[in-house]
Amino acid sequence: MITTVLVHALAVQAAVWPIVPRPAEFTPTEGTCDISKVHVVIAPGAAAKVGASVADNLTKELGHKVDVAQSPSPESSSVLMAIDTENPDLGEEGYAMVVSPSGVVAAAKTQKGLFYAAQTIRQLAMLGKPVPCGAFEDKPRFAWRGLMLDVSRHFFTVPEVKHMVDVMAFYKFNTFHWHLVDDGGWRIQIKSHPELTEIGAWRKGDGKWGGALDFVKPDGKQQVYGGFYTQEQIKEVVAYAAERHITVVPEIEIPAHELAVLDTNPQLRCTPRDAAAKATFDKIERQNTICPAKPASYKIFEDVLTEVIALFPSKYIHIGGDEAAKVWWENCKDCDAFKKEKGIKDSGEEQSYVIRHFDKWLESKGRHLIGWDEILEGGLAPGAAVMSWRGIDGGIAAAKAKHNVVMSPTSHCYFDYPYSSISTEKAFEFDPVPKALSAEEGKLVHGGQANLWTEWVENYDRAMAMLYPRALAMSEALWSPLEGRSFPEFESRLSAQYAVLGKLKVKYMVPKPTLAYSAAVFYDSQTLPFGKPPMEGAVLRYTSDGKAPTASSPAAPASLVMDKTQRLRLAYFLPDGSKSDEAVVDAVKLTGPRAMNLTQSTFERKMVMGEFKVCPPASAFASANAVAVTQIGIQGMPEDKPYALSFKGWFLAPADGDYTFALTSDDGSMLWLAGAQVVDNDGPHGAATQRGRVRLQKGVYPIEVIYFEAGGAHSLSLEVTGPDGKSKKL
Ligand code: ACM
Ligand code: ZN
Repeated sequence: MITTVLVHALAVQAAVWPIVPRPAEFTPTEGTCDISKVHVVIAPGAAAKVGASVADNLTKELGHKVDVAQSPSPESSSVLMAIDTENPDLGEEGYAMVVSPSGVVAAAKTQKGLFYAAQTIRQLAMLGKPVPCGAFEDKPRFAWRGLMLDVSRHFFTVPEVKHMVDVMAFYKFNTFHWHLVDDGGWRIQIKSHPELTEIGAWRKGDGKWGGALDFVKPDGKQQVYGGFYTQEQIKEVVAYAAERHITVVPEIEIPAHELAVLDTNPQLRCTPRDAAAKATFDKIERQNTICPAKPASYKIFEDVLTEVIALFPSKYIHIGGDEAAKVWWENCKDCDAFKKEKGIKDSGEEQSYVIRHFDKWLESKGRHLIGWDEILEGGLAPGAAVMSWRGIDGGIAAAKAKHNVVMSPTSHCYFDYPYSSISTEKAFEFDPVPKALSAEEGKLVHGGQANLWTEWVENYDRAMAMLYPRALAMSEALWSPLEGRSFPEFESRLSAQYAVLGKLKVKYMVPKPTLAYSAAVFYDSQTLPFGKPPMEGAVLRYTSDGKAPTASSPAAPASLVMDKTQRLRLAYFLPDGSKSDEAVVDAVKLTGPRAMNLTQSTFERKMVMGEFKVCPPASAFASANAVAVTQIGIQGMPEDKPYALSFKGWFLAPADGDYTFALTSDDGSMLWLAGAQVVDNDGPHGAATQRGRVRLQKGVYPIEVIYFEAGGAHSLSLEVTGPDGKSKKL
């Protein structure tokens, strides 16, 4: 237990030692030490291997040769690393470290612990300046500290995966969940079923997500997208991760997300019971769920898992279990007979039957099943662990039923969501142990994990930008004690980590400028203040001529006074040339008398049919019919065709002040007020909310919303919160 005094010391000191994740306990001592000056790592006996790898890393990271030695040298500033079985018990992964003016002494009971000491030493050295001396003991709060990468929707190469693993280990993650199989393609060589990769790893097209997923054997003529890992490559990655104390947990999706399996093994599909069932099948999307009534459905996955467990030493094998559409099973004549024979009452129990089958099978091979929280439906298989993603309720139910749990709720852990919906701060607030659990139940929560689904992540740079810096917040949420957690304190350490990420060759997301307003509408003038840059060396640059800001655009002053209509485009620039996403502020100076009377909101709605990837311009609606509606939404719109809508009307601001517009849509949408862009929620995406804040003077303003629906799920709504804090739907 850390005392309050220590927590305070830690909060103060950690800011001086800007390492992530924050060490568990820290006691400051006299003096400073510049670990970047180290020339030798002394690593006797059992520490030799980790010592050699630290020396090797430091040589690359510091730009001078760092040697490894077996015994102390006369060097003043050195690093000593040792396996010390007498060391106070810091568990499997803990270590103790003393930094004094003459160098660093680190000790751990295990290789794992010493490896984490090595990562701390690398970080301290990479800061490149003296750090205050001190002693600390460090160990993780959770045993499962994971990141998941979906390599199905988009494929990532072995060197990319290894780099991802490298950076994970540096930040003390220990679990790499490899989502190898999904509707986007099958990515692991299975020798007993070569068709899964010969055909199932390649889909027609250029890899862009959103079109049909047709699998095809590459013939060198038509364009295909894909790739897979050979078993040799899998072994190489697993070994590479193991050297970095990372367990690779493979995921083989069962029984859904099987497009690649069903395209290459159509005999595993359900069989429509009659003409009506056939019509139902024909009407909906392609079947991506295997038929549980067919013995071959079990055989193929037993074959697959036999090869998988030979490649992955992980105790847990992930079998997916999520999002099984039951419509096929409910209209299948084989499923009818199967349910009758097995005494299964519904499709929920049918799913449970499948999961229980593979749970038993994995247990018989000495492994444990882990699956997404849908595996709870219809009764949880006895040995199974649950990865809770649809919120935390699945995890709570599982822990109460005495199952092991990994928390990965969409609210904090879905790093495919934009930073505007899961910010670094939001990720930092993640606590895997829900308050609803008793202390005893809470122990069943083994940890947490962030997931990177890659439908909209087309290359590795984008993957890293979606992960970092948020993954640093996740690493801290999973490693550091809950006591003393503070986002502003974390942020001060994070600002120094950007340079470290740069040295690790991570193309992180340069935080987009966060401005209080996305628009300012005024009658005479208004002042726009700009915040502090998120990291050293970042410069906020802007344009007012409509062009994108570049590294030679003017640097923004602390604030700008707006006195005419203009659009500001702002972005941070780093010395290495990287640029953040842009922030846009529309300043609109109104002319003419101020209108005040508006009794009822009505909008003129126009529609155009067609496939859009972004909101079409207002001109696209010029010749469309106008319909008067009282709400911004998609009530009564077609369910099965792509289209775009435009809404035009008036918004009454009853008082002076700040108005927040929350625009939720699936797919994209945009909002303007008096011609000023307020919300940009554009692009193809699932339901996501974007907010924009405008400072308004009391009055009536023209409002315009454009929306498009590209297929799949769809939604649109707009909520406004006024200066009185009250919200209403428009
Ligand atoms: C999931 O996001 N379908 C687990
Ligand atoms: Zn069936």
